[in-house]
Amino acid sequence: MSAPYKILAITGSLRKASFNTALLNTLAATDYDGLKVEVADISEIPLYNQDIDVEPVLPAIQTLRDQVAAADALIIASPEYNYTMSGVIKNIIDWLSRPYGKAAVVGKPILIITTSPGSTGGVRAQSPIRSTLAAIGAYPLGGAEVIIAAVDKKITDGRFTDEANLTFIAESLERLKAEIRVRQAA
Ligand SMILES: Cc1cc2nc3c(=O)[nH]c(=O)nc-3n(C[C@H](O)[C@H](O)[C@H](O)COP(=O)(O)O)c2cc1C
Repeated sequence: MSAPYKILAITGSLRKASFNTALLNTLAATDYDGLKVEVADISEIPLYNQDIDVEPVLPAIQTLRDQVAAADALIIASPEYNYTMSGVIKNIIDWLSRPYGKAAVVGKPILIITTSPGSTGGVRAQSPIRSTLAAIGAYPLGGAEVIIAAVDKKITDGRFTDEANLTFIAESLERLKAEIRVRQAA
């Protein structure tokens, strides 16, 4: 049996009790066929500043870039802030977009998840994340978007519990696996 695909999950929230992080931790604790989800620690990632984006970069940046390089694909789970992606996830994407021409994120398939306590599930953050990822040469997964409404009602003791959403995410991860196979065969 071949090794499971490595999926690095990145949250768009620094909040300790973040719903997005709780969702990603739940995926990391779930047994999936042929893939394993690991959640990146972004707590020490500073605001992007080109002055400090020089070798050697801060350990937290190097670790994140190395984790992306070692991953077969990524998951981004982000809240919507003021009708767009959170600054947290934009900052992470900016760090991952460099070094220019050598960024590890280039060519990686990425599943985008947005959430909200509201009824719209952060949908207005989907397109901005998608277009930013496309701009840096990553491959945001096409097809039906993973949009999670009323996320605050779906977390119990730090675990995401909505079965319908989890089934849809599992189906999306199957599509992510198919995309990994296409990209790695290319
Ligand atoms: C600055 C700010 C802006 C927000 N803007 C939106 C918004 O545009 N749409 C929305 O559905 N929720 C919005 N929210 C609510 C967030 O979805 C909510 O705080 C959510 O819990 C944040 O995700 P987290 O739990 O992962 O930290 C906003 C929250 C903050 C703090």
